[in-house]
Amino acid sequence: MERLPGFRDFYPEPLPHPDVWSADARQYIFDQWRKIARRYGFREYDGPPLEPLELFTTKSGEEIVGQLYNFKDKGDREISLRPEMTPTLARMVAAHERNYKKPIKWFAIPQLFRYERQQKGRLREHVQFNADLIGETDPAADAELIALLIDALRAFGLTAEDFVIRLSSRNAWQEFFKHGGGDHAHEYEFFQIIDKLERTPPDESEKKLSAMNFSLAKVNAFIDAGQPTVELETILKNLAARGLKDFVKIDYQVIRGLAYYTGVVFEAFDRKGEFRAIAGGGRYNNLVKLISGGKVDLPALGFGMGDVVLLELLKARKLLPKFDAPMDVFVLIEDENLRADSLKLVSDLRGAGYAVEYPLTPTKPDKQFKRAQELKVGHTAKLENDDYVRIRNAKTKNEIVTGLAGAKNHLAK
Ligand code: HAM
Repeated sequence: MERLPGFRDFYPEPLPHPDVWSADARQYIFDQWRKIARRYGFREYDGPPLEPLELFTTKSGEEIVGQLYNFKDKGDREISLRPEMTPTLARMVAAHERNYKKPIKWFAIPQLFRYERQQKGRLREHVQFNADLIGETDPAADAELIALLIDALRAFGLTAEDFVIRLSSRNAWQEFFKHGGGDHAHEYEFFQIIDKLERTPPDESEKKLSAMNFSLAKVNAFIDAGQPTVELETILKNLAARGLKDFVKIDYQVIRGLAYYTGVVFEAFDRKGEFRAIAGGGRYNNLVKLISGGKVDLPALGFGMGDVVLLELLKARKLLPKFDAPMDVFVLIEDENLRADSLKLVSDLRGAGYAVEYPLTPTKPDKQFKRAQELKVGHTAKLENDDYVRIRNAKTKNEIVTGLAGAKNHLAK
């Protein structure tokens, strides 16, 4: 039986085949994300992987709706696997925001599902680090979130030479659209054309734009000028104060595909332009209100960083650590008469927090020793009799014989 296209199998290292993914690398990525989110005072939340279909069809925009894994459940409900986390977050915040001081700073590491055409950097399942800040309109919040995004990438050893945050604003585009005589009802349609500019042949974009009484030349001139809005200036200043100026640039080419964004938007890309977006986000000041049917009105912003492109980039820049999960102690059992006492030792050492391995069944001493080496253990321990244990440092080869109670103390040193 084959796995479904666009889905992944995660194996412990060393990987048995180039077509599988590393469970260790994935855990490493999750650990860095959690560490940096906590440093910025973000708390972890989670939601269900299945949601009512309607949560996504009304709020996310047509691109993502076309990619939904949706079906009817046995209770005849229209449901969908989550393609993104933001609508769930908006639903959860709206339900219980009164219990939390503002601004709410939350993060999650959800697995997401999109029926996309499988290609480099795009699969049908991925994991996203989501960080969102709710209840603050000041651009200081935008700067704080972008700083978190930068530090989340720096946590992996990436530098300003490896990636850049392309910063933009739908407010700037709104101004441009209104100024050019655009009809508000077609604004999102216009945004969609801008979003696809980089990936669409120019004459095709020109045709679409001129149907809305705009020209590609004017659009390009606006992008090239890249004049930051007052709000973007404030964010740039804030980031410069933190020494993060080199990680951001104004780039109006970015406008984001999702329908709910209302103001500042941004995307993280590798500098060489080899990969798809590493992360994307922005302000969505109306979503909580929309999802709560007008009951709760809170401004919000956030970003999502996928594990797929990030991993490709870390591999290409050789920034992944070695994953050999060494064990602390291997308990050798050469005399089967001492197995019961050895099991007690294994148990005690594990209870004291050490990672301990031992032969499950009677095994030749040389095989045990080889296994200990493969596991890169720090120490071997072998019972001499019911009372004494011989502990050997695998690196220095130093040995001591100590009473059972002394074993833990010796290892602690
Ligand atoms: P998004 O731009 O759709 O935003 O996704 C964010 C990131 O997730 C992308 O930059 C990419 O790295 C990764 N990603 C998306 N789709 C796939 C895929 N099919 N395969 C692999 N990686 C993928 C959102 O989802 C927003 N909800 C983010 C957000 C949070 N905005 C505000 N808060």
